[in-house]
Amino acid sequence: MIEKITIPEGFIEYMIVFDTADIINIEVLPKYRRKGIATSLLKDFFEICNNAKTGGVSKFFLEVRKSNENAINLYIKNGFEVISERKNYYKKPTENALVMIKNIKN
Ligand SMILES: CC(C)(COP(=O)(O)OP(=O)(O)OC[C@H]1O[C@@H](n2cnc3c(N)ncnc32)[C@H](O)[C@@H]1OP(=O)(O)O)[C@@H](O)C(=O)NCCC(=O)NCCS
Repeated sequence: MIEKITIPEGFIEYMIVFDTADIINIEVLPKYRRKGIATSLLKDFFEICNNAKTGGVSKFFLEVRKSNENAINLYIKNGFEVISERKNYYKKPTENALVMIKNIKN
């Protein structure tokens, strides 16, 4: 089931399956960008993944368009690393995806 944290300036959508949390999308309204809002949404998301109910999350996973430097920078700054590339993963326009993960050390 896809879950969502929504704030007036943006949202994050994610899915938790057993010990893995996938970030489906994160978006901040253009006029509020570069003010730390996506970072704060990620922080709230990590806290949810860490709470008693979902506490088994040890891996975070996402795909991002290879050209989306802003998002890639955001993820790297928040502990993600690129592990692989999926060819022609996106359509309209066709583009490769970078697969990024973040592991939590227990
Ligand atoms: C990617 C996105 C969510 C970032 O939101 P944001 O609130 O502006 O991000 P933050 O202010 O928390 O930025 C955190 C870091 O991300 C990187 N970053 C964000 N925007 C950037 C930009 N325009 N240029 C370069 N780096 C950028 C920087 O490292 C930044 O840290 P810094 O400001 O200290 O340098 C936003 O640009 C967005 O909504 N983009 C369109 C949707 C999208 O591409 N979503 C990702 C789908 S996978």
